[in-house]
Parts: sequence; C-alpha cells; structure tokens
Amino acid sequence: MKIAIINGPNLNLLGKRETDIYGNQPFEKYLGELKALFPSVLFDYFQSNIEGELIDELQKVGYTYDGIVLNPAGYTHTSVAIGDAIAAIKAPVIEVHISNVHAREDFRKLSHVSGKSAGSIFGLGLKGYELAIRWLIDHQ
Ligand code: DQA
Repeated sequence: MKIAIINGPNLNLLGKRETDIYGNQPFEKYLGELKALFPSVLFDYFQSNIEGELIDELQKVGYTYDGIVLNPAGYTHTSVAIGDAIAAIKAPVIEVHISNVHAREDFRKLSHVSGKSAGSIFGLGLKGYELAIRWLIDHQ
C-alpha cells in the first residue's frame, strides 16, 4: 500500500516553531516512527511552503497512491485551489491538523479542505497522522 504524506507551509519548522502549540518533535523524526509502525506501507513524504507545489504534488500522487494524509497548514483557510485539487484526484485524502483549529482564532475555523476530504482530524498532535494512516489502511 502506498500512502503520501503532504505537509504545507511552516511545517518544516516543527520542533522549533511555537512548540507550546505544535510540540518539540521535527516531522522527519516522527516519520521514522511512522515507518517503523507501518512497515508494510510505502510512504512518500513531501513538504512545501508554496501553494502551487502542494497542488502539483496532489496531482502527482493523486491517481496512483492509495491514500493521502494532508496538512495544508495555513493554506487550509485560504486555498480554494487546494480544495479543487482534492476534488479532482482519485485517492482519498485525510485532512490532519496538529492543533485544534476550532479552539484558536476564528479564521482557522474555515477549511477549504474538509468538505473535499474523506475525513478530518484536528487537535490530537502528531498522533493525528498515525490515526489517519490507520483509517486509510482499514478502508483500502
Ligand atoms: C495547522 C493549523 C493551521 O491553522 C496553521 O496555519 C498551521 C498548522 C496545524 O497542524 O495545527 O500552520 O495546520
């Protein structure tokens, strides 16, 4: 099974960015844990700070991968185009947010991604990625 993990802007700074909200762990380290937890899954990891690159990646993996775990970060709240890309592709997308976006500023309550995704997980920290992967495995 092939699962793509796509992270949006500023998630390359996990571990040093607002650690009270996002925790102390760099994503690459957590990815190692995910690979150990799911040895039979082939993972593709992509991170970009650029909206169009995230869309290119969704289009690239969206017809050949079995599932996508997507944290569009700040673009969640602004990007109609990322929502359109999710609607266009075949692979199921699970939206993940590390923080509870509904318990923060009002602008974070709007998601252009939730309505196009198979499901959304927020507020459970990095564990949300693991839960999303488990769902994708169970629903192949
Ligand atoms: C985030 C929440 C977004 O509102 C924010 O812009 C991020 C990270 C999260 O994982 O909690 O960059 O997607």
